[in-house]
Amino acid sequence: MAFLLKNAHVVDPVAGLDGVMDVALEGEKITAVGEGLEAPADAEVVDLTGKYLVPGLVDMHVHLRDPGQEYKEDIESGTRAAAKGGFTGVCSMPNTDPCTDNGIVVQYIKTRAAEVGHCRVYPSGACTRGLKGEALAEMGDMVARGAVAFTDDGRGIQDAGMMRRVMDYGIMFGKVFMSHCQDAGLVGEGQVNEGVVSTRLGMLGWPAEGEELQIQRDIALARLTGAKLHIQHITTKRGLDMVRAAKAEGLPVTCEVTPHHLFLTEDDIDATYPTALKVNPPLRTAEDAAALLEGVIDGSVDAIVTDHAPHAEWEKAREFAFAPFGMTGIETSLGLVLTNLVETGKISVARMVELMSVAPRRILGVEAASITAGATADITVFDPAQEWDVTEDGFESKAKNSGFIGAHLTGRATDVFVGGEPTLRNGAIC
Ligand code: DOR
Ligand code: ZN
Repeated sequence: MAFLLKNAHVVDPVAGLDGVMDVALEGEKITAVGEGLEAPADAEVVDLTGKYLVPGLVDMHVHLRDPGQEYKEDIESGTRAAAKGGFTGVCSMPNTDPCTDNGIVVQYIKTRAAEVGHCRVYPSGACTRGLKGEALAEMGDMVARGAVAFTDDGRGIQDAGMMRRVMDYGIMFGKVFMSHCQDAGLVGEGQVNEGVVSTRLGMLGWPAEGEELQIQRDIALARLTGAKLHIQHITTKRGLDMVRAAKAEGLPVTCEVTPHHLFLTEDDIDATYPTALKVNPPLRTAEDAAALLEGVIDGSVDAIVTDHAPHAEWEKAREFAFAPFGMTGIETSLGLVLTNLVETGKISVARMVELMSVAPRRILGVEAASITAGATADITVFDPAQEWDVTEDGFESKAKNSGFIGAHLTGRATDVFVGGEPTLRNGAIC
């Protein structure tokens, strides 16, 4: 397949591009970038006037639920949702059933994604067997079959000695260790951020310290072992300051933030007990959200991810305390970032590309995307002016547990190419 994408506003901070130009694709590759390009033979010409064209976005924190919980989501539906959201790739989390803690499950995910996927899937593998925190998972076997990172996401590794063993052993594979920071003893049955809101609503609190203690511990262990550490879905001002200090010290520490922790706070959880807003870690204070935003602007936050956590309607329809943690996000992430951060002038499109494409790819150690001749054609195109409403029936995902239903957004992906193949055209899944 060949395409000539004309008159797009190309933004690629790594290649240093920021201007209107044409991009030619042939097969898997970008073949030319410049002004007034001639269409190659048999190329389909697509006019992208008014749209941005950027290196393909990657969401490095996604729960695809496959194998084992396909009633919530599966590899086909989850990657279809990713394409709709403008992503060319996702990193899948290992809390599947069976757990992604051995090479065969990694191989299954890769194979299934190749068969039915709408984007690239970069599987993460568990650090410990069954995410139990007791014995090492088959890390080498998983890497041999395509795992790009290690994490026990869904729960924190409770024993510091175990976390050290994970890093000491796993470091030989050169992958990043992604840490879901949750001290079980402190968090217990906590439902929402511990503070005024938990008290007012009469719900058990999930204290900031339940996250911060493990951030501090894992930074110390990264210092001890030399491991590359990535703090997942960071939510507090003090936690972010710990990451800042680690970076200042020169440690290989990075972190990510979700749109829900940036754009929602504990104050959005009212006496209707909205289970869509029950997430792990919980929505924090307005002060924390403001600090995260500062970090996004000043570069302390490396990546924006969704922690896309699909659940069935009946699961979220239960009382708050019995509903599972998590909200979907992969279809609203780009729109939320464009609306709240780019449109408002808080960050540039180039910074958005760093947060949602360049850094996730670098941290995961997967192929960088670049709008240059010879590069693999992983491309996201979005219309910065398209207005749309987030509605329950508007999702490609099997799940509807978004915390942003009813939001009015400006900016949406229109076209996505993965290795030169269109996966989204004019907003429709291919
Ligand atoms: O809210 C969350 N949901 N946080 C997690 O860490 C896990 C996820 C899930 O698997 O549902
Ligand atoms: Zn997590």
